[in-house]
Amino acid sequence: MKFFFLFLFITLIPNLVFSHSHYPITKDNEENVLKGKELYSQYCSSCHQRDLSGAANWKSFDEDGHRKAPPLNGTGHTWHHPDKQLHSIIKYGLAELVENYQGKMLGFGDRIDDKGIDNILSYIKSYWKEDIYKYQLEISKK
Ligand code: HEC
Repeated sequence: MKFFFLFLFITLIPNLVFSHSHYPITKDNEENVLKGKELYSQYCSSCHQRDLSGAANWKSFDEDGHRKAPPLNGTGHTWHHPDKQLHSIIKYGLAELVENYQGKMLGFGDRIDDKGIDNILSYIKSYWKEDIYKYQLEISKK
């Protein structure tokens, strides 16, 4: 009996402690990836391009001095951010996160719900090479 409770303790506690976080977001659920693809083409592809490759010469600035849309396909630095940060960038935009932000990445929280944002992340991750995908999953667990 004692062992039974010990067993319960060991198996249940980590679940109770960590269950509030749904990160990291994986690309495993095909339905989520497809939903993300739809939302992406509706809301994101105009700037980040249909194939997620970003604006041409994305490291330069556009005519009004703002940054251009970077690639989200794993060739930029998107994968250096954990899921929590990526979720916030998409939900609130950089204006909410960076003081005096003048750029063009505004939030979508009024049009896309949290689940939708996570689906977009699943879709984006489906473009990433395996090594950066795995790395980013690790940093998203913290
Ligand atoms: C009006 C153009 C525009 C639209 C539409 C847009 N973005 Fe962006 N996005 C940008 C720009 C420009 C940046 C770079 C921000 C900066 O440095 O000022 C950016 C940055 C980002 C970043 C940070 C990337 C990184 O590598 O750090 C993510 C993630 C992102 N966008 C996701 C999205 C998603 C998802 C959507 C659709 C829901 C979207 N964006 C729609 C212009 C846009």
